[in-house]
Amino acid sequence: MIDRRSPNDKLLTHDASRLEEAAGGPIDLAIVLGSGLSSALRDRFAYVSIPYDTLLGMPVASLRGHAGEALVGTWNGKRIAVFAGRVHLYQGFSPLQVTVNVRLAHTAGAKMVILTNAAGGLRAGLEPGDLMLISDHLNLTGRNPLVGYPHENPFVDMLDAYSPRLRAIAKTVATPEMRLTEGVYAGLLGPTYETAAEAHYLRTIGADAVGMSTVLEATFARFLGMGILGVSMITNIVGKPDTSHADVTAQGAASGPRLADLIGSVLHKL
Ligand code: HPA
Repeated sequence: MIDRRSPNDKLLTHDASRLEEAAGGPIDLAIVLGSGLSSALRDRFAYVSIPYDTLLGMPVASLRGHAGEALVGTWNGKRIAVFAGRVHLYQGFSPLQVTVNVRLAHTAGAKMVILTNAAGGLRAGLEPGDLMLISDHLNLTGRNPLVGYPHENPFVDMLDAYSPRLRAIAKTVATPEMRLTEGVYAGLLGPTYETAAEAHYLRTIGADAVGMSTVLEATFARFLGMGILGVSMITNIVGKPDTSHADVTAQGAASGPRLADLIGSVLHKL
């Protein structure tokens, strides 16, 4: 029989045991850091670094702003694995490869995942540097990691996939300096930024922000029954000329400390 899972369970189990060993027990929760955000949590907790290329099942990419390592340790009483860097569909990775981080975290015990990303603002009033809690998503990638996945029930209920309870906690702990708002995230294949017509279309169908990640990871996390908190860092305004990847990662890095404050406060409340 063809094993259509990638990576196979043996690799995941091996990698998960390395995370658990580094954490001193099963992981409580995973955090995935988006473009420009990979350094945001480095000064927040004591961690062991596990480079992705030493994990057997982890896909590795080398785009600037996507350092590839898992930072494993304890923060505010929670055993965490921080995925500093992720791979994307637009780099040629498959939907299953893009979601290895979530499967790995779940195998290591994680019941929850915080998915962060850099996103372009669509809704009027959003500014670079704003943090947007993801209330819901539009998966416009045309892909789904559960296609062909060997399981009898891939018909996952995606209503309230972004946990109302976790969102309520985030809103409770947010301070005005964090500039926290809430909205719908549209996930696109990329790698090109949007045309004016696409930006108009995205606004019309109800998207508040747009990016090239997160939706597949959220889909798999939901399939696995994990609690999901999604946070977009608004790095640019869609439709403004000359959006560049360098600007996106620079804005992500500049706003990282506020995102780190928010995540730390959420962990404290869990
Ligand atoms: N569009 C798509 N993806 C993005 C953007 C954007 O404007 N900014 C950051 N990721």
